[in-house]
Amino acid sequence: MTKVAVVTGGTRGIGEAISLALQEKGYTVAANYGGNEERAHAFSRRTGIAIFKWDVGDHQACLDGCATVSETLGPVDIVVNNAGITRDSVLFKMSFDDWNEVLRINLGGCFNMAKAVFGGMRERGWGRIVNIGSVNGQAGQYGQANYAAAKSGIHGFTKALAQEGAKHGVTVNAIAPGYIDTDMVAAVPPPVLDKIVASIPVGRLGQPQEIARGVAFLCSDDAAFITGSTLSMNGGQHMY
Ligand code: CAA
Repeated sequence: MTKVAVVTGGTRGIGEAISLALQEKGYTVAANYGGNEERAHAFSRRTGIAIFKWDVGDHQACLDGCATVSETLGPVDIVVNNAGITRDSVLFKMSFDDWNEVLRINLGGCFNMAKAVFGGMRERGWGRIVNIGSVNGQAGQYGQANYAAAKSGIHGFTKALAQEGAKHGVTVNAIAPGYIDTDMVAAVPPPVLDKIVASIPVGRLGQPQEIARGVAFLCSDDAAFITGSTLSMNGGQHMY
């Protein structure tokens, strides 16, 4: 039976590229989205990929959403925790809500999704969880105390869960993208972004497809011996 992959935030940006890369590899893809109906429906019409709306920061919504995917497409074999938001500001301007929302969605979302699928993966003896971290979770970033904390947490979460999945055929890995050509990065003020790009040895932003190819590899049987690892894909910006 074709393996079923859920990609959170899978209809835009890096998530869109991941959904397409996994579809191309022959998986049945369920693309989760949180809010942008227009973009999600256009994506589904264009690609034929089924879309499912829920908030990854909502624990029950993740349990219910994954149950719906299983009933519709089959048991979930692969989860790519890609959904994430930024609420950038220096700490003294950062509200508790800015902190909490980023932690709830970016890090809480990984826990919620893993809780929804991990038991089934263990029972079936095969699973892949790929968590999308960030170079800014590895190196920190001015104005991102919330985002860096959440992404750094993802890297620790990945290593802990990898140990629990290993003997059951479930691998858990992370990818730490650098600055990728997406709406999220386009929102960085141009003078700030220019300086960041100047600090990237390859001299450009990454493309979403470049991250997606890394995800597809980690989901494949070829990557069965890789677990608890972080693949840094950042154009040399941070050599970790
Ligand atoms: N290091 C040291 N000082 C810095 C700095 C840095 N990296 N960036 C800004 N500053 C300084 C400025 O020089 C300025 O100093 P003065 O007051 O002495 O002039 C001060 O900090 C305030 O800077 P801003 O005017 O930029 O402050 P602001 O409040 O208007 O904006 C900010 C702050 C929102 C954090 C803005 O600087 C910003 O957007 N930075 C980019 C953050 C970023 O990289 N986000 C990544 C988003 S994409 C993503 O997250 C995806 C991924 O995984 C990579």
